[in-house]
Amino acid sequence: MTMIDEGVRETDELLAEAEASILFTAKRPPVVMERGKGMYVWDTDGNRYLDFIGGWAVTCLGHSPDVLKDALERQASQLVNVSPAFYNKPMIELASLLTKISGFDRVFFGSSGAEANESAIKLARKYGAIRKGGAYEIITATNSFHGRTLAMMSATGKAQWQQLFAPKLPGFLHVPLNDWEAMSQAIGPGTCAVMLEPVQGEGGVHAVDADYLAQLRKKCDDEGILLIFDEIQTGIGRTGTMFAFEHFGIRPDILTLAKGIGGGFPLSAMLTKEELNLFEPGDQGGTYTGQPLAMAAGLAVVGEVIRLNLPEYAAVQGDYLISGLRSMQTKYKLEHIRGKGLLLAFDLPEPKGAELVADCMKEGLLIDSPSPRTIRLMPALNVSKAHIDEMLGIFGRVMDRLWG
Ligand SMILES: Cc1ncc(COP(=O)(O)O)c(C=O)c1O
Repeated sequence: MTMIDEGVRETDELLAEAEASILFTAKRPPVVMERGKGMYVWDTDGNRYLDFIGGWAVTCLGHSPDVLKDALERQASQLVNVSPAFYNKPMIELASLLTKISGFDRVFFGSSGAEANESAIKLARKYGAIRKGGAYEIITATNSFHGRTLAMMSATGKAQWQQLFAPKLPGFLHVPLNDWEAMSQAIGPGTCAVMLEPVQGEGGVHAVDADYLAQLRKKCDDEGILLIFDEIQTGIGRTGTMFAFEHFGIRPDILTLAKGIGGGFPLSAMLTKEELNLFEPGDQGGTYTGQPLAMAAGLAVVGEVIRLNLPEYAAVQGDYLISGLRSMQTKYKLEHIRGKGLLLAFDLPEPKGAELVADCMKEGLLIDSPSPRTIRLMPALNVSKAHIDEMLGIFGRVMDRLWG
């Protein structure tokens, strides 16, 4: 056998090699994905899947959009990489674009959501150290998800993670979402920031209450505490506005973005205002911060989201998908249909999420079950009504078989 694959490899052979060589971290179905276009992906056996996971809320323009492909090709022939010690042109252009559309003043680029959140936590602790008497505690929500680095696992409010990889990074407190009493009790002189997802994604699509947020914003202003919004999942049009904070009539002090911002290319950003431009050389950085290919990808993707007005389109398509789900609600006993834009979820009458996901996949539909009773949908922002009808048709057929 040569080291380089010289022809079509049998799926079974690929799967055996995967089992033998890839460190086990997740149960994956026995297929190998090979290509994608628009709303569909194909496996190595030629099976086609309608993707309502959207690359985990990432492929906001669908799979392999020409605008992203062309931008990567152009940039790859110009400059793939240069030391982060230098500015590069797409880095400056993307930072300008993001500040313009968000109203923030400063951007730090990373590659993953966790990295953007780490930057936010470091900035909040720097602020606490120099402006708030050494305050370093950060309050986050129960059931939140902020990433998988050790610090972000400490920030995350998942009950199952609390004992994992002990000892955790100290200084994180978790309070139930939308419980003002719990939040006001947790806030103290040691608090430098509160970090929330405006709509919890991995936690099952639960939005923060607008009244609670207004109270929290006021309290943070009064006490000099920073409000951080983790918009890694909700940002760049996902909830029907460019940023989810726009739904709530308040602004955070720090905003983190990833997933949709690169349309599938690894890219993340932390945005903040001028008065928090506090890092000194050495505090934060990384080999790939402002990496030219990633910057070109971000410019192309965010530019296209703006050009096509996809946040507004996502709001309309989300309403259409919700009304389709509501029309099936009674028949299939769906509960708590919820969400904003194209970040939607509902609960099943029984904890059969994994079974439903597997059966839908057999019928050519990809959906996600973040917990046994919950199904989450997060298709590309440019999903058409025909695709939504196709999704509802497959879903209905599978439900008829499972619960009919
Ligand atoms: C709200 C939120 N924050 C952070 C992350 C972590 O992002 P990444 O996996 O790119 O590190 C995720 C990923 O799902 C997320 O949904």
